[in-house]
Amino acid sequence: MGHENQIISGAAVLEVPLMQPQIQDLITAAIAAKKKSYSPYSHYQVGAALLTGDGQIVTGCNIENAAYGPTNCAERTAFFKAVSEGIREFRAIAIVGSPEGDELTQYAYPCGVCRQVMMEFCDPEEFQIVVAKSQEDYKIMTLQALLPEGFGPENLK
Ligand code: THU
Repeated sequence: MGHENQIISGAAVLEVPLMQPQIQDLITAAIAAKKKSYSPYSHYQVGAALLTGDGQIVTGCNIENAAYGPTNCAERTAFFKAVSEGIREFRAIAIVGSPEGDELTQYAYPCGVCRQVMMEFCDPEEFQIVVAKSQEDYKIMTLQALLPEGFGPENLK
């Protein structure tokens, strides 16, 4: 593993850290999902792979729309697929994104709306977000790090 990989964690000790093979599998699945991207307007392709509490991987791609507003990000596609199948526990998500035809030259961080959707279903101190340029070059951080002081279901209790 290259030293360029960083673990930025909001929690001091993660209860169940991601294992290396899981990270590789998630990145592989996210890269495959990106190929399904429907993005004729932005030509920006995104793939996501969501690791569920019981170890399944649920994928998603971005799905654009001629009216622009109904566009759905890859991350939310993965979450909504999973939740609509009755899955409510999630451990991690890998995300890859790039302009159509390009190599993965950037880390594709989740947009604010997707971070908020993650907040609905995930413990921010535990949920792991992997942004990858390749199997070797990726960063891992918690949702807490990307959405500090987030508003979520706990606030309404
Ligand atoms: N997109 C995602 O799929 N995920 C993000 O977190 C950021 C943006 C998509 C939405 C749109 O289809 C394209 O990237 C350009 O914004």
